[in-house]
Amino acid sequence: MITDHLPGVSVAIDRLIATISADRDRSFAFVQRLCRDHAPSILDLLVHHGAVLFRGFEIESREQYLSLLRDMGHEEARGPQMENKVPSPQKPVTPPRRDMAKLVPHDDVSMQGPHTELGWRSFRPRFVSFWCELPAAVGSETAVFDMARVYRELRTDLRDAFDSHLSNYYSQGKVTFFSEDFRVDSVLVHPETGRRCLVIWYFRQPLSPFAVEAYLATGRGSRAPLPPIAYEGRPKFMRVDPERLEHRLIDSTGSTMIFNDDQKRSLMATLYECAMYVKWQSSDLMIIDNILTAHARMQSVLPRKLWAAVWDEVDVRAFSANTQLAADECPRWRDAIIHPDPGLLDLP
Ligand SMILES: [Fe+2]
Repeated sequence: MITDHLPGVSVAIDRLIATISADRDRSFAFVQRLCRDHAPSILDLLVHHGAVLFRGFEIESREQYLSLLRDMGHEEARGPQMENKVPSPQKPVTPPRRDMAKLVPHDDVSMQGPHTELGWRSFRPRFVSFWCELPAAVGSETAVFDMARVYRELRTDLRDAFDSHLSNYYSQGKVTFFSEDFRVDSVLVHPETGRRCLVIWYFRQPLSPFAVEAYLATGRGSRAPLPPIAYEGRPKFMRVDPERLEHRLIDSTGSTMIFNDDQKRSLMATLYECAMYVKWQSSDLMIIDNILTAHARMQSVLPRKLWAAVWDEVDVRAFSANTQLAADECPRWRDAIIHPDPGLLDLP
């Protein structure tokens, strides 16, 4: 048993998520020792289940939280010039600005669609972490999707399409997303388990409304209007106009296809059948495997403060499921001409 290798804690495994909680000692010094001395066992839990959640420990600052990831041997996935933290917005409504007017609010931007972090490019973090400084009073969940199960349970026409096509999240020639417009693998072979995992990035408009629809169909969501996400301090994010991104599939001959609405609905229905929801508690630290899982923020009433960081940048073309398809090369973040600013990361 893996839990035999983690002394002083209990490990509760619920499908995707392994929750580690203290038997007696909840102190930061204890969890720090645990992370330093038992990193391989924690990593094993992470890559075989999809997510590890440390709950109930006295992790009291961003610095402490980030140091635990470093203690486990993870390396921040971005260059030193970029801060690795993203606060959730503090204000419920974005102040009106003429140049933002056409972007916000959308009635369902209080909820993200499912996405692999930075999933539109081949260099991306192998792991993503979140630390909860302040949970929202209402909502405040993060959805975690089992992308191996999603792949397995996709409707046949969709699985065939992903198997035989690369994905491209394109901007209809109007605004290029962070000046990057790549063809990426639609399916990856998970390096530790050999499972085939779907890659998806339905983060915002015009794709995420299909996610909202599928989520509400599960009977779980609230149809009551909730405040839109306020992208405070994220001017570059607004400038790239994510409202225009579409998902295009490209085969080995270069010909392209786009899913019709029925296919998008079926895809999202499968995703939400394979979702788990983490209801945040103060000081929670969660690490997710960015190949085995996708994630999304659910509706919540602000204020809510969660800090995200990305770790261990990898070239995921090493895990291509279809070697007949050649995904694009893209620069590592630290080599990119246009550096994303700290507002880049979509909030979990
Ligand atoms: Fe994200």
